[in-house]
Amino acid sequence: MGERRQTFGQGVVMTAVILDGRKLAEEIKGKIKKEVELFKKDGIEPCLSTILVSNDPASKIYVNIKHKNCEEVGIKSKNFQFPEDTKQEELIKFIGKLNEDKSVHGILLQLPLPKQIDENKAISAISPEKDVDGLHPVNMGKLIRGESSIIPCTPFGIQQLLIKNGYDPSGKHVVICGRSNIVGKPLAALLIQKKYGANATVTLCHTGTKNLSYFTKQADILVVAIGSPKTITANMVKEEAIVIDVGINKIPDPNTKSGYRLVGDVDFDTVKEKAGAITPVPGGVGPLTVVMLLYNTLLTASLQTDHELSYDLKNLFEH
Ligand code: GUN
Repeated sequence: MGERRQTFGQGVVMTAVILDGRKLAEEIKGKIKKEVELFKKDGIEPCLSTILVSNDPASKIYVNIKHKNCEEVGIKSKNFQFPEDTKQEELIKFIGKLNEDKSVHGILLQLPLPKQIDENKAISAISPEKDVDGLHPVNMGKLIRGESSIIPCTPFGIQQLLIKNGYDPSGKHVVICGRSNIVGKPLAALLIQKKYGANATVTLCHTGTKNLSYFTKQADILVVAIGSPKTITANMVKEEAIVIDVGINKIPDPNTKSGYRLVGDVDFDTVKEKAGAITPVPGGVGPLTVVMLLYNTLLTASLQTDHELSYDLKNLFEH
């Protein structure tokens, strides 16, 4: 954990511990790389396929980051790019082909999808055993029942960021802002389980919540995934709260070369003066999300082969 106490003259100013997602992600990647070598010794080459049905530059960047990380740990990966006007049947047919392909262990359908494609139908077409995002109804159903499942990458990454930094959610009040299928809902399902790294009291806030700050001020752990820049300000946060910022928003900044910069959903500069710990954007939750995707790819590879994940790797995430 970082140093919290800074002394200025006579007074003592407390600023939040900065939760360094990049550092933790690199540590976990080292262990994943070793596991990939064990797969290869067994004659198995773990392989992730991504599908991108979009020309959106941000989505392209996210997909490229995933492939770069796969390469770093020795996981084979391939992207399949589809045009924006792809028909739903065509996409589902292609997913079916990847489901049948024994050399592909994990399938990731990058979101969001163009409006002519029904997201639920497309995700449901992925074989649950290859669903590295953990968004298939079978995997989401298992998650809410507390059965062993593939856990969606961002919630899984948030849980690891908390545990590995010494912030066990057990008995704590976790307030989540945002009810998306990809973050808010599965994170709530994960943290309410009667298990190590969970066992929290969870409040899920959303656009229908009246008086949002009434809830956020009660959070021991506040997770924000609303997609709105710098919306959570210091007056909405309890003293010493642990603040997890999932947002990635592009805002104009004439002082940068590109003319913009990335900020979270939390007003970092003011909230860090009040919180006990806070994730930066970028470099907080993002790197953990990618690393959990790498882990999920190995998990799916183990589900489809007779290679069992080593005790060392499983023990890193399960207790
Ligand atoms: N778009 C933004 N985040 C994600 C993610 O974690 N998985 C997928 N499939 N699409 C995304």
